[in-house]
Amino acid sequence: MNPLEGRNILIGVTGGIAAYKVVEVASRLKKSGANVRVIMTKNATEFVSPRTFQEITGNPVSVEMFAEKIHVAHIALADFADLLLIAPATANFLAKAAHGIADDLLTTTILATTAPIFVCPSMNTNMLENRVTQENLKILKNLGMKIIDSASGNLACGTIGKGRLPEPEDICAEIEKFFAENFVPREKNSVEISAGFGEVLTIVENPLPLAGKRIIVTAGGTIEPIDPVRYICNRSSGKMGYEIAKVARKHGAEVLLISGNSTELQPENLHFQKVESAEEMRRAILAEYESTNAVIMAAAVSDYRVKNVAAQKIKKSDENLTLELVKNPDILKELGQNKGKRILVGFAAETENLIEYANKKLEEKNLDMIVANNVTVEGAGFGTSTNIASLIHRDGKIENLPKMSKSELAEQIVRRLEEKFLLKEG
Ligand code: PMT
Repeated sequence: MNPLEGRNILIGVTGGIAAYKVVEVASRLKKSGANVRVIMTKNATEFVSPRTFQEITGNPVSVEMFAEKIHVAHIALADFADLLLIAPATANFLAKAAHGIADDLLTTTILATTAPIFVCPSMNTNMLENRVTQENLKILKNLGMKIIDSASGNLACGTIGKGRLPEPEDICAEIEKFFAENFVPREKNSVEISAGFGEVLTIVENPLPLAGKRIIVTAGGTIEPIDPVRYICNRSSGKMGYEIAKVARKHGAEVLLISGNSTELQPENLHFQKVESAEEMRRAILAEYESTNAVIMAAAVSDYRVKNVAAQKIKKSDENLTLELVKNPDILKELGQNKGKRILVGFAAETENLIEYANKKLEEKNLDMIVANNVTVEGAGFGTSTNIASLIHRDGKIENLPKMSKSELAEQIVRRLEEKFLLKEG
């Protein structure tokens, strides 16, 4: 089967002369079986008419932020996408995307999507090589977007140099490669994607792969009190777990996000429970474990807590202060001992011997998969918007993933979970 078959691809077209070449990109993707939708910026419509893309894709084309009949169009479009391709990407667009400016439908959708984003810069050579543009490209790359390099040749401005949009077949080949390597085929069926407020955005031929599944995701660091004022915590921001919860929800699961300490905003459309200590997190999970199909534990759970929490603020008196710590319950190990048919995914935050230590945790906690991250590597681990992870499976298979945004990694983890459900359920 073609890896593009049934995929939802959203194309963002910005205002460059190469917009006309993207008509062929859309056409090729559609012919390969993808469900293609297009967002055009106002400037893009100066080069190609929305009607052209509408005819090619068979779907309405979105331009205006507020003219849509559908409410919250950017959210619906963001949710629709398995992949967002920006082609051509102008210098102006790159600058806006790199700095989170959301002043039209396309830039707003980019902020709202958790789908992988591919960007094809296309412009005059001097504009491309300008340091500001190069810095913006670096930012986007570090945020985990894939930059498809511009080609060299004759440019519309009459010069010869780098800045051409790559040929449509090369852009499509990159996308096809991505889906071939990363995506589990979904079963065919008919499903409506709601755009909210009772409106239906589109009908696609995919059921949401996690429909009917109840999944617990944990995130953030636990807080272990010392006295009414102080506590022991760790560097977890909650980003990784929150992204997983959002992706699992997007894929149709009923999600309970149990969050320790986190700086993230509470996501919409899922069950949410805030906890502090490891013991509280344990109780919250166990209360729902019976009716749960899978647990993904991205939380950084404190291994120890203070034995005697002081009832009053500890006064600064002696030169030294000794706190006696006792072991916390190992939540995931306990879940593993009563696993039943559930799928359990853990994380391993390591600073050395990544694979060896992670493997040990996979065994000890009876997990189906462990996501191992070396938290000392730049762009990985605590607080960053990217991560670098190895996915270690129960059968010994190890996938060493490149650096990617946490939302993209969340997509990968959720896809593997879907694969495991398919295998378990035969
Ligand atoms: O939150 P972010 O800033 O985005 O950072 C992401 C992250 C680095 C926190 C995340 O990627 C990560 O690695 N989370 C796991 C952190 C951790 O506690 O790892 P661990 O190796 O100590 O624990 C192994 C597994 O057992 C984890 O799934 C953990 O949730 C679980 N555990 C640990 C201790 C304990 N007492 N009970 C547990 O269930």
